[in-house]
Amino acid sequence: MKKVNVLGKYDIAIGERLIERAGMAIKRVCKGKKCTVVSDSNVAPLYAEKVLDSLRQAGFEPSLFVFDAGEKSKNLHTVTQMLNFFAQQELTRSDFAVALGGGVVGDLTGFAAAIYLRGIQFVQIPTTLLAQIDSSVGGKTGCDLESGKNLVGAFHHPALVLIDTGALSTLPDEYMRDGMGELIKYGAIKSPEIFEILEKETCFARLDELIHKCVCIKAEIVEKDFTEQGERALLNFGHTVGHAIEKLENFGGISHGSAVAIGMCVITRAAERVELCHKGNAARIEAVCKKYGLPTEYDASAEEIANAALNDKKRNGNILKMVLIRKIGDSYICPVDCDKFDRFLEGNVKA
Ligand SMILES: NC(=O)c1ccc[n+]([C@@H]2O[C@H](COP(=O)([O-])OP(=O)(O)OC[C@H]3O[C@@H](n4cnc5c(N)ncnc54)[C@H](O)[C@@H]3O)[C@@H](O)[C@H]2O)c1
Ligand SMILES: [Zn+2]
Repeated sequence: MKKVNVLGKYDIAIGERLIERAGMAIKRVCKGKKCTVVSDSNVAPLYAEKVLDSLRQAGFEPSLFVFDAGEKSKNLHTVTQMLNFFAQQELTRSDFAVALGGGVVGDLTGFAAAIYLRGIQFVQIPTTLLAQIDSSVGGKTGCDLESGKNLVGAFHHPALVLIDTGALSTLPDEYMRDGMGELIKYGAIKSPEIFEILEKETCFARLDELIHKCVCIKAEIVEKDFTEQGERALLNFGHTVGHAIEKLENFGGISHGSAVAIGMCVITRAAERVELCHKGNAARIEAVCKKYGLPTEYDASAEEIANAALNDKKRNGNILKMVLIRKIGDSYICPVDCDKFDRFLEGNVKA
């Protein structure tokens, strides 16, 4: 088992069979008696009983709240149901919640824990690759509104994160691929080593090690930049174009990881053309995306992508802060005039 500490506040443990041993690990950081395990309709049948058992064995009194799996549940209605459930279970200020599932479960549970009785502790047990390397680290919680994704939220750190890599054995391929998009991103922005492992081997052979490296990178970035003014923006590599594509597909036609993969390829091809990135890096990103079943191009004009991107929240006045790489592992923020963004992308949306 590997451990990463974040901000001197909480630990992230990475290893196998952590789900079965969750109770004892949680006992070290949570002093309450009662807790609610929150999970979704896919994950609960697979893992909830193991977590509940382990919590009971450690002396806790756990209850279980399950909601329908999927982004469609990531709304205030589910949050309200969850808060009412906490109240019915009579959770007090010293009790806690456990998020068992992907990013949707983690974001919702963290948010409910942030606002219930003005804040109770919560533990993350992320079960998707995306949640293990991205959403469970950093303290961002929240839900969607009809007006848009992630428009409501709070920063609330977990008391502990237990990353059981064995849980990925049941994760459907499409979600595995989705997480691969983010894994490739970590290599591209910060770690030539991660990138080379992905190029040379099949990541699955060294998944524990790769997850650990990604968690270290995210933890370090979060420590430097908790409120997302500078360094944390690097995590948005591929995301400006990616979000634009998700929007053009009405947030359902393409997965987030696939959109990010295309975004990384498009922005790096464009950067290479104007010598903002050393030659050959776009080809490396494209090759790795293809190797893990991710797309590298999209059928739309540069203008369509730019228009969709510029309604995005990452717009800052008239300047768009693009995340680019000079080379694999070396990323930076490059400001570009919003009016020139479509010209920058021109000819690079399709490979
Ligand atoms: N808080 C953050 O910093 C942050 C960062 C990135 C993304 N997010 C959020 O994360 C969400 C996406 O997360 P996600 O991709 O994990 O989606 P998800 O939580 O919907 O999980 C994907 C699917 O996999 C199923 N599943 C999860 N674990 C499983 C397992 N081990 N075995 C079988 N099935 C399993 C789920 O039921 C679901 O159907 C989005 O809402 C996004 O906004 C948050
Ligand atoms: Zn992402």
